[in-house]
Amino acid sequence: MRLPKRLAAIAEFVPPGKVAADIGTDHAYLPVYLVQTGRSPRVIATELNEKPWMRARFWVSSFHLEDKIEVRLGAGLQVLSPGEVQVVVVAGMGQNTIRELLAATPAVLYRLERLILQPMSDAGNLRLWLVDNGWRLVQEALVEDQGRLYVIVVAEQGEETTKDRLLIEIGPRLAEKGGPLFVAYLKQLKKKYQRILSGLERSRLPAAQEKALKLTAKLARVREVMGKYAGQS
Ligand SMILES: C[S@@+](CC[C@H](N)C(=O)[O-])C[C@H]1O[C@@H](n2cnc3c(N)ncnc32)[C@H](O)[C@@H]1O
Repeated sequence: MRLPKRLAAIAEFVPPGKVAADIGTDHAYLPVYLVQTGRSPRVIATELNEKPWMRARFWVSSFHLEDKIEVRLGAGLQVLSPGEVQVVVVAGMGQNTIRELLAATPAVLYRLERLILQPMSDAGNLRLWLVDNGWRLVQEALVEDQGRLYVIVVAEQGEETTKDRLLIEIGPRLAEKGGPLFVAYLKQLKKKYQRILSGLERSRLPAAQEKALKLTAKLARVREVMGKYAGQS
C-alpha cells in the first residue's frame, strides 16, 4: 500500500520493532503500512469518533490484520494502558488538541519512549509545551504534500539542549538542517506573524501592545534565521 507523502514521512520516524499507537487514526492507513512493511510488530489505532473508528476497522479487516492492529474507540491516550506501547503518533490535529490529549494522561505519556507529532497549526507552541514538560526535540522534518507544508516533530524524554525559546518556536532541529523547505517554512511564519502584528498594532489595549512587542521579537528572530539561509530558496 502506498502512503501519502506526509504519512510516509511520519512512518520513517517510527523506530523498527517498537509497538506504536496511532491516535486519531481515521482511515488506519498508517497502522496498516507499519505492520505490512514489518516496521511495527503491533499497532494500536485509536479514534474518538465512531465513523472513523468503523472506517479504520474496515480497512484493517480488509487486509486481515486484526491480529496485529487493534482499533480502539476513545479519547486520546485514555484508551492505552501505561507501558503498553513505546511510540505514539498524533497526526493531522491542531496543536491545542495534541497538547490537551498528551497532558490528560501523564501515566501513559511518561512511559512512552517517543512522540511523533504532526500538528496542523502552530508547531511552535507545541514545541514549547514539549520542552517545558520533560521532552527534548530529537528530530524534525518538513514535508510538502499537495501544495501544503507539514511539520513533523519527534520528541523523546529528556532535557532539550536549545534554551533559546524563540528558536524552539521556529524549530531548532529544522534550523540545524536548513534547506529550501525550511526557507519556505520561515517565509510562511514571517507572513503569519506580520498578519497578526498588523491587527494588534491597530489596538490601543495594553494587552495587545504587550503581545505586539513579543511578536516583534519573534519576527526579528525569524528574519535573523532567514538571513542565515538566504540563497537556499
Ligand atoms: C484530520 S484526521 C487525521 C487522521 C490521521 N491521523 C492523519 O494524519 O491522516 C483527525 C482524526 O482525529 C480524530 N480525533 C480528534 N480528536 C481526537 C482525540 N482526542 N482522540 C482520538 N482521536 C481524535 C478525529 O476523529 C479524526 O478522525
